[in-house]
Amino acid sequence: MSQPGPSAYLHGTTPPEQDRLSLLNDLLNAGSLRELGLRGGERILDLGSGLGQLARAMARAAGTRVVAIERSAEQVADAARRAERAGESALVDFRLGDATLPPLREDEWGAFDVAHTRFLLEHLREPLAVVRSMVRAVRPGGRIVLEDDDHDLMRLHPEPPGFARLWQAYQGSYVHLGNDPLIGRRLVGLLVEAGAEPVRNSCVFFGSCAGAPQFPAYVANLIGVIEGARAVIADAGLLDAADFDRALATLRDWSRLPAAALWYAVAWAEGRRAA
Ligand SMILES: C[S@@+](CC[C@H](N)C(=O)[O-])C[C@H]1O[C@@H](n2cnc3c(N)ncnc32)[C@H](O)[C@@H]1O
Repeated sequence: MSQPGPSAYLHGTTPPEQDRLSLLNDLLNAGSLRELGLRGGERILDLGSGLGQLARAMARAAGTRVVAIERSAEQVADAARRAERAGESALVDFRLGDATLPPLREDEWGAFDVAHTRFLLEHLREPLAVVRSMVRAVRPGGRIVLEDDDHDLMRLHPEPPGFARLWQAYQGSYVHLGNDPLIGRRLVGLLVEAGAEPVRNSCVFFGSCAGAPQFPAYVANLIGVIEGARAVIADAGLLDAADFDRALATLRDWSRLPAAALWYAVAWAEGRRAA
């Protein structure tokens, strides 16, 4: 049985899931960095930093040491190993802690230029508490950047039979854990509620088509997230096992069509702390 807790993390930290998260970073980080538009020299806080690839990429772009907060000890250890293997241990200060009340020193509160989070708020029952902490963590005029999923933005064409039900069941697994699969559309609202001034609303395109070199990686990511939610979907009675397997097989068949196309976008919003 899945255990819905105060902050239930759907995806877990199994080796296949770590591979999926790493692949996702390869596909997405250039787009996230482009939207961030770091100029160099920024002090950056990253919350829910996972394997730390984006934290390291931000550190490289800014030329500073990023502070990265992650609640899972396994993820922190894995992130540290990956950084060491890349010879980049100095780029990130990985800290074990909860993003709701990040373990920052007294002199760090109100000192960051940028507080960033990606794919964390969708896993929290109280995402506003994290955004409030981000507002507190940055200096007056500092940037708060939120990136997250709005699963309703997914489009496949031609649509594989059974995919709509499967995708609904996947989104239902978030709801079952007390989380919001449509949080992407609420990012600007969360900034306002947390006391920040919203300044930008955008998205990072995350799509591809058959024939593009990275298309198989997009398909692997899509199948990976759905497979990862299998147990929660079953526990919650959102789709029976036979329908789940049939829809996944149809999705695999679809990915081999010469005209298969996938559109998705990661919601991206920026606010500023009042000067
Ligand atoms: C989908 S991963 C995203 C990782 C990274 N931000 C990225 O974009 O690749 C979400 C991460 O948030 C972590 N997490 C979940 N709840 C958290 C919390 N309350 N505080 C800190 N980290 C949390 C999970 O352990 C996981 O590593």
